[in-house]
Amino acid sequence: MTVLLTGGAGYIGSHTALSILNSGKEVVVLDNLSNASPEALTRVEQLTGKKAPLVVGDCANREDLEKVFSQYKIDQVVHFAGLKAVGESVAKPLMYYRNNLDATLTLLEVMQEHGCFDIVFSSSATVYGTIQEMPLKETFPLGCTNPYGWTKFMSEQILRDTGKADPRFHIVLLRYFNPVGAHESGQIGEDPSGIPNNLMPFICQVARGRLKELAVFGNDYPTKDGTGVRDFIHVMDLAEGHLAALSYAEKHAGVEVFNLGTGTGYSVLDLVHTFEKVNQIKVPYRIAPRRPGDIATCYADPSKAKEMLGWSAKRSLEDMCRDAWNWQKNNPDGYRR
Ligand code: WQD
Repeated sequence: MTVLLTGGAGYIGSHTALSILNSGKEVVVLDNLSNASPEALTRVEQLTGKKAPLVVGDCANREDLEKVFSQYKIDQVVHFAGLKAVGESVAKPLMYYRNNLDATLTLLEVMQEHGCFDIVFSSSATVYGTIQEMPLKETFPLGCTNPYGWTKFMSEQILRDTGKADPRFHIVLLRYFNPVGAHESGQIGEDPSGIPNNLMPFICQVARGRLKELAVFGNDYPTKDGTGVRDFIHVMDLAEGHLAALSYAEKHAGVEVFNLGTGTGYSVLDLVHTFEKVNQIKVPYRIAPRRPGDIATCYADPSKAKEMLGWSAKRSLEDMCRDAWNWQKNNPDGYRR
C-alpha cells in the first residue's frame, strides 16, 4: 500500500511520513519545497530505515501530479500541500485562493483519472471562525475570518461535493487544532523561515537567544489568566491521527470530518511556564496588545475521532515542551545545518 503525501516534506507532513513508514505502508512525497527542506525526509529515512522518495513539484501543476501517478502506484493520498500563513493570506488573498484551491482541484482530477479514491485532507480548526461555544464539535456552523481559513473551508466543500457525486471516493477531513512539538529523537521538527508567527517556535527561538523576548498578545481576554487559550496537540499525536484516518478511509466510502485536538485548552502563559519548568530555561516575555483576528479561546471536542477512528491524543503539554526544545537545541538553525 503506497501513500502519496502532498506537502509531505513539511512540519506535519514529515512527522506523518515517519508514522506511516513505521506502520508498514510505503510513502511517496510531492513537495515544491517552498516551505520545506529535503533534509527532513533524509532524517525520516535515517529514523525509519525506509525510503520516502521525494518528487519535487507543485500539487497545482497537472504535469507534476501526472508524473507521480505514472511513476508510482498510489493507493491513498494525504493532502497537506498549501500556503498556511494567516497574516500573509490577508495581504495576498488571490495567491492563497489560486494556490490552495488549484492544488485541491487538480489533485482530485488526477486521482479520479488514475483510479485512486482514498484521500485524507489537512483542514484546520480555523474553519470554526469566531464561535464562542466550547468545546468545538464537528457539527458546529462554520465561518472563517481570513482567506487562509476560507481556502480550507472551500477545499472541504470541494471534497464533500466530489464525494457526493462520485461514490468511489473515500474522504476524511481532519481539522487540526494547534500542532506543536517534535519527534522525540529531536531529528525532525518545525522549521519556520524567518520570524515565527506561531507561539511555540517563537518561544523556542527566545529560549535559544535568537529572539530577545516573547510578546504575549493580550492578557485581557475572558480566560483564566487573561491570555489566549488554545488546544495544543503534539505533532506525533497528530501524525498518528492520520494513520487512523487512512485506515478508516480504506473501509469507508463517503465523507467524514474529525477534530484532531486533545480536548484541553491551555493558556499562552500555561505554555510559557510549562516550557520553563520542563526545560529549566527562562523565557523572557512582555505583555503586548492583542493580535488582530485572534479569538480568546479555542479547543476541541475530540470524542468523534475517539469513537469512529479509535484515536485520541496521548502526549502531555510537558511532552510537547520537552520535544519542541529538544529539536530546537539539536538544530539551532533548523535543517540549514
Ligand atoms: C496561539 C496563541 C496568540 C504568537 C494559527 C492559525 C491556525 C493554525 C495554527 C494552520 C494565540 C498567542 C502567538 C506570539 C502570542 N495554523 N501568541 N505571541 O493563531 O491559534 O492558530 O496557527 O492551520 O490556522 O490560525 O496559533 O501559535 O499563532 O497563537 O501571544 O508571538 O498564542 O495570541 O493566543 P493560532 P498561534
